[in-house]
Amino acid sequence: MIIGIPKEIMPGEARVAASPEAVKKYIADGSTVLIEKNAGVGSFYFDEDYIASGAQIIASAEELYQKSDLILKVKEPLFNNTYGKHEVELMHEGQYLITFIHPASPVNHEMVKKLAAQGVIGMTLDSVPRISRAQSMDALTSMSTCAGYKGIIMAANEMAEFMPPMFTAVGAMQPAKVLVIGVGVGGLQALATAKRLGAVTYATDIRPAAVEQAQSLGAKVIDLGVPAELAIAEGGYAKALPEEWIRKEREKLREVLKEMDIVFCSALVPGKIAPILITKEMVEEMPNGSVIVDISIDQGGNCEVTPPGTIESKHGVTIIGVKNIPGTLPKSSTWMFAQNVYNLVKFLTKDGKIELDMTDEIVKSILVTMDGKVVHAGALEAMNK
Ligand code: NAI
Repeated sequence: MIIGIPKEIMPGEARVAASPEAVKKYIADGSTVLIEKNAGVGSFYFDEDYIASGAQIIASAEELYQKSDLILKVKEPLFNNTYGKHEVELMHEGQYLITFIHPASPVNHEMVKKLAAQGVIGMTLDSVPRISRAQSMDALTSMSTCAGYKGIIMAANEMAEFMPPMFTAVGAMQPAKVLVIGVGVGGLQALATAKRLGAVTYATDIRPAAVEQAQSLGAKVIDLGVPAELAIAEGGYAKALPEEWIRKEREKLREVLKEMDIVFCSALVPGKIAPILITKEMVEEMPNGSVIVDISIDQGGNCEVTPPGTIESKHGVTIIGVKNIPGTLPKSSTWMFAQNVYNLVKFLTKDGKIELDMTDEIVKSILVTMDGKVVHAGALEAMNK
């Protein structure tokens, strides 16, 4: 099998789909690996590292797409200005593609239809189910881990005060208070990071299991009192709360927020728009010099006034709406991403070729396009709305 790793073309994207370590493993498994020239530079993985791992460096993306049986990417296919063509047009019938396609997102619907028309078998990493045997393939979890850690570091950097308690010759200073709203993968990592930096941590979530995990990391819990049947869906995932409960949650958080130095927002229900849990009025009441990090911004954000893709100061509060936080930690995020993708490819490969078992839950979840059709349930639902 020939595996092609193109250079990412989204502006500012530093990650790449394979690390030299992953390349070594693909080659040990019998594959040939083609890497576009300078594809790993943004992640501090250089062509010579890939060559040492056994990869071939290809100067032209067009040639790489043409020669490969399987394309591994980080971001969804985009228009390639160098060739004046969409990346999908560089692909061919029967070619496999593994990347974050985000097929349900309306901005990607045209691209997904093009993928189907082109005969590409597209698989999306954002639909790997959160089940134990898929854990090592779950790149979304890896990226949320990066966002949880780096999001807190960014907040500490923006904050006007020390994070840990400080005992100095001129007096003592209190530790920062950090609240994490939504303690899933990203939120738990944020709590652990804030704790390591010496903050006093608080957490809230609608799932009792998440709250328990937050407590075990030393966080004080803000109880929202949401009945379990309203909060938990099949498979243990969170459910979107009715508007009445979201209102109650905001009322509860309103008082808490007045005391916080950092609020980390990562409340999300898979496949849905993020609930607005912090209004403009609530921001106005927060302490001057405090910080909100809203990592749910790709789904609209948990705070009403988060600036998408950037950092702004509003009402004396710095609000971080940076979208690609894992990309600011490129070496670690690339390494984790590459491990996840390698594990997925290994799982899908039999006798040196990809063979899709259409009865398998992982395969059924991640498939987006096949046999000229869009087959992803979430994408079809969103397209027919
Ligand atoms: P997750 O599904 O593991 O966690 C979300 C948590 O929110 C769950 O524990 C859920 O119970 C909770 N939740 C849902 N509704 C709530 C409500 N009304 N109040 C309180 N809690 C509620 O998700 P994960 O992987 O931690 O991702 C969180 C967000 O971070 C997602 O929006 C994801 O797209 C985003 N993300 C952003 C990145 C960036 O660079 N900005 C990078 C990686 C992830």
